[in-house]
Amino acid sequence: MPIDRDTMIEVIDVNKEYRMAGAIIHALVDVNLSIKSGDFVMIQGPTGCGKSTLLNVMSGLDLPDSGKVILDGENIARAKEDRLSRLRRQKVGFVFQDYNLISTLTAMENIEALLWPTVLSSKEIENRAIAALRDVEMLERKDHYPVEMSGGEKQRVALARAIVSKPRIIFGDEVSGNLDPESETMIMELLKKINEEYETTILIVTHRESVVKYGNVVVKMDKGRIKSVK
Ligand SMILES: Nc1ncnc2c1ncn2[C@@H]1O[C@H](COP(=O)(O)OP(=O)(O)OP(=O)(O)O)[C@@H](O)[C@H]1O
Ligand SMILES: [Mg+2]
Repeated sequence: MPIDRDTMIEVIDVNKEYRMAGAIIHALVDVNLSIKSGDFVMIQGPTGCGKSTLLNVMSGLDLPDSGKVILDGENIARAKEDRLSRLRRQKVGFVFQDYNLISTLTAMENIEALLWPTVLSSKEIENRAIAALRDVEMLERKDHYPVEMSGGEKQRVALARAIVSKPRIIFGDEVSGNLDPESETMIMELLKKINEEYETTILIVTHRESVVKYGNVVVKMDKGRIKSVK
């Protein structure tokens, strides 16, 4: 069956389980999901239902036990690690709950570090990092270290790092989980702007009802299964 050109991610019959001290945890059960290019997707569900596992499998951070994950036309479910890491670098940006910035690097250096190794000139790297910092309204803080920033500011730098490689897709796991309502609004508005201006496909896992309105697709999960897609 030919895949619609507009489809950015196709999850087909994906299963994943974890074995822990004799017990089997069915983290993903017969999951099927189709995400169109330019979608802004919210993934919701109770704790432990498999949201992070699904995000990790869709982004190539983890592999399913069975099934296919077609990311921008390529099945990554059986890809080798070097191919996966290249795909992640070329096509995917990540934002996590705890920012994952390198504490010994400034905001600017954290962003530039993502582009290495590269064929870009150091001037081009600098220009791209500056543009990304400007997009998240953090350019004036470019020489600051993570310890000198608030949670919301760190998350804006993390977002700049996620967009500096001009990814087709951004994956976020509880991106506003540690943020106050004002910082949450700012991060979500920035994601919305990126989604609209660059047509970046965005998938966000969230517990927060307050951010669901930013998505055009809401995926509800329960016990490793997809319950609804609206
Ligand atoms: N590395 C692992 N080893 C063993 N079990 C795991 C592992 N990762 C996740 N699990 C289990 O798989 C199930 C799904 O976990 P997952 O992290 O995807 O849930 P989640 O929906 O993201 O939960 P939360 O909202 O708490 O972040 C849970 O039962 C969890 O305990
Ligand atoms: Mg999770």
